[in-house]
Amino acid sequence: MKSRKNISTRIKAISAVLLMSSVTQYVIAADWQALPTKAPAPADNPTTAEKVKLGQILFFDPRLSSTGTVSCNSCHNVMAGGEDNRAGSAGVHGQVGGRSAPTVWNSAFSAVQFWDGRAPSLEEQAKGPVTNPIEMGMENWDDVVKRLKAIPGYPELFSAAFSADNSPVSRDNAAKAIAAYERTLITPNSAYDQYVSGDKSALTEQQISGMKTFAEVGCANCHSGPAFNANGAFMKFPMHGNSMFEAKYKMSQDEGRFEATKLDADKHFFKVPTLRNIALTAPYLHNGSVTSLPRVIQVMAKMQLGSSLKQQQVKDIEAFLESLTGEFPKQTMPRLPATPGKTFPFVK
Ligand code: HEC
Ligand code: HEC
Repeated sequence: MKSRKNISTRIKAISAVLLMSSVTQYVIAADWQALPTKAPAPADNPTTAEKVKLGQILFFDPRLSSTGTVSCNSCHNVMAGGEDNRAGSAGVHGQVGGRSAPTVWNSAFSAVQFWDGRAPSLEEQAKGPVTNPIEMGMENWDDVVKRLKAIPGYPELFSAAFSADNSPVSRDNAAKAIAAYERTLITPNSAYDQYVSGDKSALTEQQISGMKTFAEVGCANCHSGPAFNANGAFMKFPMHGNSMFEAKYKMSQDEGRFEATKLDADKHFFKVPTLRNIALTAPYLHNGSVTSLPRVIQVMAKMQLGSSLKQQQVKDIEAFLESLTGEFPKQTMPRLPATPGKTFPFVK
């Protein structure tokens, strides 16, 4: 709620600047920032090498699912763009949900998680999927903890990461470890970052023009800050009705933040998603209904700004968005602790 107020104040401030300024000042008004090379961690879960190691193993372990087939990485592939390039993700028994998986890359730079922002932190988010019946399908976390305790190697990994705890294998510690790992999933040093850090040759002419257009037409009013996500502020979507796009992409079926709060004022509000690595994460929008980047740029202009962009503007913005693809820290598939000579009675 607070963040919504902040952003509308911010939009007013930016509009005031726009009224008075020339094109070059638009770029200043957009407040271009490079992505930090470290993600902030909360005071009660400082990032340590032991937690990151455990968190990565948990992230890749399909035994956290009822069927033994689905891991976090199944829907958030960190060997690629951090999601699954599908409109709806497939969980246990091939069940498909109604929302598209957002990328986990740079999710550390959002104040809220999920399209409707129902999780206030990565720690809270990480507790959800394991017992979600259409994602990983476990009945409850007690069963998950029992399973983890029965896998030789896990208790030791938890003890190393949470040495002060008497009972280190727990839901909360699993979530903390996963969140610590996710805070390492950041992609600084994109061409855009190099440009705003002073290397004026890092972007092409077209990308620079796209960057200006992105600010001039109003995209940067919402997609602001280093992750282009207004730090996870909520905005109405769609802002402007358009019956053709509506019929085609069915963007008003999901009530967004209202689903989480049941407050009428939250109907059709969604978290502003990051545009970092956006070229890698099609299909787009909460329901994955738009399959290409140029198309989603047109849809955004129509639905969020009530304007139509010229072909050239779309192309320029697309080129600019491509410059937001960053440097991906190398991921090595972890060895998972084994259960020599045994297995679990996985659900068929
Ligand atoms: C079956 C596919 C699936 C699995 C498995 C899965 N997720 Fe997700 N994840 C999704 C979908 C879909 C969403 C968006 C749901 C929504 O917004 O309501 C999501 C949202 C998220 C988000 C929020 C990102 C953002 O920008 O809002 C994070 C972080 C995340 N998942 C991490 C995880 C972790 C950690 C695990 C394993 C414990 C996991 N996911 C397992 C599909 C999956
Ligand atoms: C009024 C705020 C606002 C404005 C202005 C705005 N956006 Fe968005 N943008 C959003 C929200 C909210 C979403 C999430 C929509 C949803 O629920 O699917 C979004 C989604 C997107 C996505 C899809 C992200 C994903 O992961 O699927 C792209 C790409 C995008 N916007 C680009 C742009 C561009 C380019 C412009 C300017 C032409 C723009 N936006 C203007 C708020 C805005």
